[in-house]
Amino acid sequence: MSDHGVIESHPTEGETFPPNPEFVAQANVSDPAVYWKAAENPEAFWAEQARELHWTKPFTQDLDWSNPPFATWFADGELNVSYNCLDRHVIAGNGDRVAIHFEGEPGDRTSYTYAELLHEVKRAANLLTSLGVTRGDRVAIYMPMIPETAIAMLATARLGATHSVVFGGFSAESLRSRIDDAEAKLVITADGGWRKGRVSSLKPTVDAALELHPGEAHSVEHVLVVRRTENEIAFHEGRDLWWHEEIVRMDAEHTAEGFPAENPLFILYTSGTTGKPKGILHTSGGYLTQVSYTHKNLFDLKPESDVYWCTADVGWITGHSYVVYGPLANGATQVMYEGTPDTPDWGRWWEIIERYGVTIFYTAPTAIRACMKVGRQEVEKYDLSSLRLLGSVGEPINPEAWIWYRDVVGSGRCPIVDTWWQTETGAIMISALPGLTRLKPGSAQVPVPGITVSVVDDQGNRVDRTQGGLLTIQRPWPSMARTIWGDPERFVDTYWSTHGVNSYFAGDGARVDDDGDLWLLGRVDDVMNISGHRLSTAEIESALVDHTSVAEAAVVGAHDDTTGQAVVAFVILKSQQTEVTPESAEDVLKKHVAGHIGAIARPRQIFVVPELPKTRSGKIMRRLLKDAAEGREIGDVTTLADTVVMSTISERVRAELSSKA
Ligand code: WT7
Repeated sequence: MSDHGVIESHPTEGETFPPNPEFVAQANVSDPAVYWKAAENPEAFWAEQARELHWTKPFTQDLDWSNPPFATWFADGELNVSYNCLDRHVIAGNGDRVAIHFEGEPGDRTSYTYAELLHEVKRAANLLTSLGVTRGDRVAIYMPMIPETAIAMLATARLGATHSVVFGGFSAESLRSRIDDAEAKLVITADGGWRKGRVSSLKPTVDAALELHPGEAHSVEHVLVVRRTENEIAFHEGRDLWWHEEIVRMDAEHTAEGFPAENPLFILYTSGTTGKPKGILHTSGGYLTQVSYTHKNLFDLKPESDVYWCTADVGWITGHSYVVYGPLANGATQVMYEGTPDTPDWGRWWEIIERYGVTIFYTAPTAIRACMKVGRQEVEKYDLSSLRLLGSVGEPINPEAWIWYRDVVGSGRCPIVDTWWQTETGAIMISALPGLTRLKPGSAQVPVPGITVSVVDDQGNRVDRTQGGLLTIQRPWPSMARTIWGDPERFVDTYWSTHGVNSYFAGDGARVDDDGDLWLLGRVDDVMNISGHRLSTAEIESALVDHTSVAEAAVVGAHDDTTGQAVVAFVILKSQQTEVTPESAEDVLKKHVAGHIGAIARPRQIFVVPELPKTRSGKIMRRLLKDAAEGREIGDVTTLADTVVMSTISERVRAELSSKA
C-alpha cells in the first residue's frame, strides 16, 4: 500500500460470461430494476424483505441509526428465529420435505425432514430449559459437523438464548477464553467427530478447557455430550450429561415465543489485529432477513426442487448463515457432510453431489485449488449434471481456479457467484446476481441490492476507478454486527473510526474496474486469510512468545498456492535458554502454536533469526518479512534502524527454500 491508502493493482481481465437465457427465464431475480428500487430507499427495501419472515409482533420501525455505530433494525418487532426456520414450514404443509441429508465421514447417512427436525429441536429446547437455560443466557457449542449441532443452535435460539459456536479445531485454551468471555453456563459437545478417518477429540478438550486456570472459577454448570463416535471419554458426575439419555425424556411439545428483533442470536469469535479474538454479536430480525434474502436470491434457490450444499463448517460464519439460518429460513433441502473432501479419497465431494443430486454448491477457493492439484479425473468419475449454480467464498478466487470450477465442476453451464462478506457483515454483501450479472472471473462484482459500498483512500475520499483503495460500507445493513461482546469501544475503534462513524471499515483492499465491478485485493491489516479462515498475526505472535524459549516473534501471511496464505513465523530465541536448539525450534514451536490456538494456526515455516527488522521507533516491519517469506527481493529498507538485519534474514530464508527445493 502506498502512503495514502491507495493500492497499486494490475488487473488481469479476460473472458466474461453473460447469464444464459434458460437460467434467466427461471431466475428468482431477472429484472435489473431491483438495484435502483433498493437504492432509492434501502430501509424500505429491507423492510419488505423482513416481511417475508414470520413476526409474532409486526415491526413498525426499520433502521434506527440515532446512536451510530450501534444500529437497530425492526426493533419494535418480535419473532422467533427457530420458528421461522422450522415451525412455519411444517405449518405451511412442507413437514415432509427433507431439511438435512446428513452424511458422516465413515459413510453413515440419515435424513431429517422439517417435521423431524422440528421434533428434535423442540425436545432439545425442553432439555436446555431443564438445565436452566433461559433468554439471554449464553450456550457454548463445540461440535463436529453433525445434525445435532444445528439442532443445538436452533434450540438455543428458540429460547431466546445466545449461542457461541467454537470451531472444533480450536484448542482447550481458545475454547476456554471464549467460554469465559461469554460466560457460558452450558457447553454442548460430542464425544468426538470423524475427520480424515480419525476421531477428533472434543469432549476431552472441553474437560481440559474447564480444568485450565485452577483456582479461577468458570461459568459452566453443565456439559451436554452427544454420542457420535463411541469414543471413551471421562464423565464428571453432576456436571456432564449424555444428550441421548436426556433427550428421550423430554416432551416433544414446545411453543416458540416471540422475542424482540434485537435479541442477541449469537456471538462468534473472530481474529482481529490484537492477540484477543473479538466476540462478534449478531441479533435476530435483521440478521435473519439478510441471510434469507441473500441465500434465496444470490443462489437462486427453489426450495421445492433444489438440493443445496455448503461445505463450510458450522464453526465459522459461513456455517451459521449459509448452513443453518439462511437455508432453513428458506425451507431448503440441504446436504451436511461431516468430514474432509479427501476421505477416503478425493472423489468424496463429487460422489456426494451425485448421490443427493446437489443442484447448488457453495465452497471455498482453497478447496477448489486443492482439487485442481489432484486433477479433473477425480471429478469426472461422477455425474454432476444435477448442478445448476456454484458459489465461492472466503478469499478472492483467482481466475484460473474460477475457470476450472466452471468447466470441470460446472460442465461450463453453471453460473458462479463469488460472494464477499465477513463475520462482521453477517451475510453476503458483494456478489453477482446469477440471472442478471455478466460474470467476470476473479471479481466479486457488485454490491447486493440495498447495500452501498465505496472504495476510498485514507482520508475517506473515493478513489478513481481502476485505482485500488480501502473497501468501506456506506450505509447500515440489517445483518451487520451490533457490537463486540463486552467491548463496544473496540467495536467503534476497529470498524468505525478510520473514516468516521458513517463508514464501515472492512479491512480489505479493493478496486472498481471500468464496468463498475469490484475486485478484492486482500486484507490491509495484520489479519491473515489461511484457507478462507481468518487468523491474526498478533495472536500467533503472542502464542510464540508464550513459549519459554522465545524472546521475540513476528508472523506474516505469505502467499501459498493452495491455502491462499500460509503462516510464516520469525523468532528470536532467548540467549540463555536451553530447551530448544535452533534445529529443534521449528518443530517444537509449531506444536506449541497448534496446542495454544488450534491446528489451523500451525505455522508452515518458522525461521530462527538473530534480529527482527524494526523501524527506529521499534515497530516490526512485517512487510519486509513478507517479501522474504515469499522469496521476493526485499523492498525499501531505508526506514530500518539496522539495514543489515534484513539481508541476514533473507539469506537465511533463501538458504532454507533452496535446501527444500
Ligand atoms: C475476510 C472475512 C465470509 C465468510 C468467510 C470468511 C475475505 C471473504 C471473500 C471473497 C475476496 C473474501 C476478506 C474478508 N473474503 N470472502 N469472495 N473475495 N475476499 O469470513 O473469517 O470473517 O473473513 O475474508 O478478506 O475481510 P471471515
